[in-house]
Amino acid sequence: MPLHGASPLDLQPAARASVAVARPRLPAADAILPYLRQIDEARWYSNFGPLVCALEERLGDRFATPASVVTTVNATQAITLGLQAMDLEPGAHVILPAWTFVATAHAVIQAGLKPWFVDVDPATWMLDPWAVASLVRRHRHDIAAVIPVCAFGAMPDLDAWNAFRADTGIPVLVDAAAAFDTLSDARLPAVVSLHATKVLGLGEGGFLATEDAAYALRVRQLTTYGFQDSRESQVPATNAKLSEYAAAVGLAALDGWPGDRLRFMRTAQMLRIAMIGQRQVHFQPGWGSDWITSVCTVALPEGSTDRVAAALRQADIDTRRWWGEGCHRSPAFAGCRQEPLPNTERLAASTLGLPFSIDMDGGEIARIAHALDTALAAG
Ligand SMILES: Cc1ncc(COP(=O)(O)O)c(C=O)c1O
Repeated sequence: MPLHGASPLDLQPAARASVAVARPRLPAADAILPYLRQIDEARWYSNFGPLVCALEERLGDRFATPASVVTTVNATQAITLGLQAMDLEPGAHVILPAWTFVATAHAVIQAGLKPWFVDVDPATWMLDPWAVASLVRRHRHDIAAVIPVCAFGAMPDLDAWNAFRADTGIPVLVDAAAAFDTLSDARLPAVVSLHATKVLGLGEGGFLATEDAAYALRVRQLTTYGFQDSRESQVPATNAKLSEYAAAVGLAALDGWPGDRLRFMRTAQMLRIAMIGQRQVHFQPGWGSDWITSVCTVALPEGSTDRVAAALRQADIDTRRWWGEGCHRSPAFAGCRQEPLPNTERLAASTLGLPFSIDMDGGEIARIAHALDTALAAG
């Protein structure tokens, strides 16, 4: 619903009120209620109950070829357990992009491994499989696995990453946290976040999808104390299971997804229309037309991020540097191995998360476009 009384296609600037960078909307209580009643009926609340099984099956159906889906309490846990299930040498290095959210690196460390930050391609904002292959040629014995990260929901070249795995023998785990919409290929194991801030959110949650059923079983075992077919713990593990209540929200969210996807797309298109002619703002290729995600990260003139963010703040418009200065800059990862990172540094200084939500109205969009025009003209 429009928030300021404007029609969704009315691009008149809205009355001044702050525009939030994100305004997540999860399924309404009425949509969840039928599933909650099923929980009441079954009196099954966790430990792979009927709703978690149904959610995993429906998520699996989204893939082009049969995929096993393992739900988890969040995507960070899914990445951690996905790495652990690969049986890598403890303390070995895992290649990941510096241009990612801190969760990717935390998961590597939680899995008993070491992050090795590598630069991204300036056009895709993601790891370049050919550049990583060249690194592998120089350091074959130092690299245990690679985590390509889907930049804000964009999909990397999965054929190229499959070829990389086949050529090098190095396992690849795709961090597709924001790529619920774009991920339909589970040849490589991939992890999606179902956090409230994602396009399909259930509060906290995530899943790993893979075509390798045996690997999925190992990940599953790690989510449930190392149990498999008995109550004897077979391997060191944790508890990362999703509850039936979380699955109820997930199922309701999936019911609403076709309509919600269109609503996200419509808002994205309005934002694009409002900025037609603004040649200094670049959306991610395909964003809002081929695929959608819950954030709008745009590329601005080099070095202008802070200045533009400050100008928008003056206009009561909230923005976010979703990945800050780059993951490698967090004190938590000081001392981690890293390659030269000029593209990451450049992206940190030239990209910005604009406000975006499923029901942002035309007035808010017009205000964002106007504030951006003004800020960029002043530069
Ligand atoms: C790239 C990336 N990886 C991992 C995560 C972690 O997801 P979760 O919050 O479900 O643990 C996020 C969260 O936004 C993310 O952006």
